[in-house]
Amino acid sequence: MKDTLFSPILEEYLEEHTSPESELLSELNRETHAKVLLPRMLSGHTQGRFLSMVSHMIRPQNILEIGTYTGYAAICLAEGLAEGGSLHTIEVNLERETLIRKFISKSNLESIIKLYLGNALEIIPTIDILFDLVFIDADKKNNLVYYEMVLPKLSPNGFILIDNVLWSGKVLHNPSKKDTKTNYMQTFNDFIQQDTRVENILLPLRDGLMLVRKK
Ligand SMILES: C[S@@+](CC[C@H](N)C(=O)[O-])C[C@H]1O[C@@H](n2cnc3c(N)ncnc32)[C@H](O)[C@@H]1O
Repeated sequence: MKDTLFSPILEEYLEEHTSPESELLSELNRETHAKVLLPRMLSGHTQGRFLSMVSHMIRPQNILEIGTYTGYAAICLAEGLAEGGSLHTIEVNLERETLIRKFISKSNLESIIKLYLGNALEIIPTIDILFDLVFIDADKKNNLVYYEMVLPKLSPNGFILIDNVLWSGKVLHNPSKKDTKTNYMQTFNDFIQQDTRVENILLPLRDGLMLVRKK
């Protein structure tokens, strides 16, 4: 069930009152919509500017993104990296590699963005880095697994952002048992809410972003 929270009029107004996308991000947005399945997965203008703003506020040395898709959010997050910092992003779908690399190259971020191709569940344990910011945006059923995997790799006072936690507003209602995705998302949100290791705020931006700070 969709709620008025997600009205196109609101989305349009937010975009009109948010700094514009760069020409490069706009091109990546267009090309993703023209050539790639499920373009709604791309963070897009408003959320992309939010990710960039958060990254600028934190000035992280190391960022981890789980779920690259076509690289839109990776480029946005990399904008705020500290001098000498790097962004690590993981994508399981090998068909996306050409487009991701094309835009990383166009953005001149090749030396800063490291792309890992494969299953994040297998790749995360091999990355021995302390992260200041993590963006979880892959297969939603594994949100909790990713969360527990990255928490020990997060610096004290580090941040995690988790996308789609409102799940098109479906978490606001009583889902049927068969609606496993909504049930997963509700369980995940409830878990974060009672987790004493962190502070959290659920932001109703786009499809819902959970912002978590490690205490
Ligand atoms: C919502 S999209 C990511 C969008 C991107 N973060 C952005 O904002 O532009 C989710 C991506 O996660 C990838 N994915 C799903 N399961 C994965 C896994 N186990 N490991 C790595 N990537 C995965 C999908 O192939 C898809 O490209």
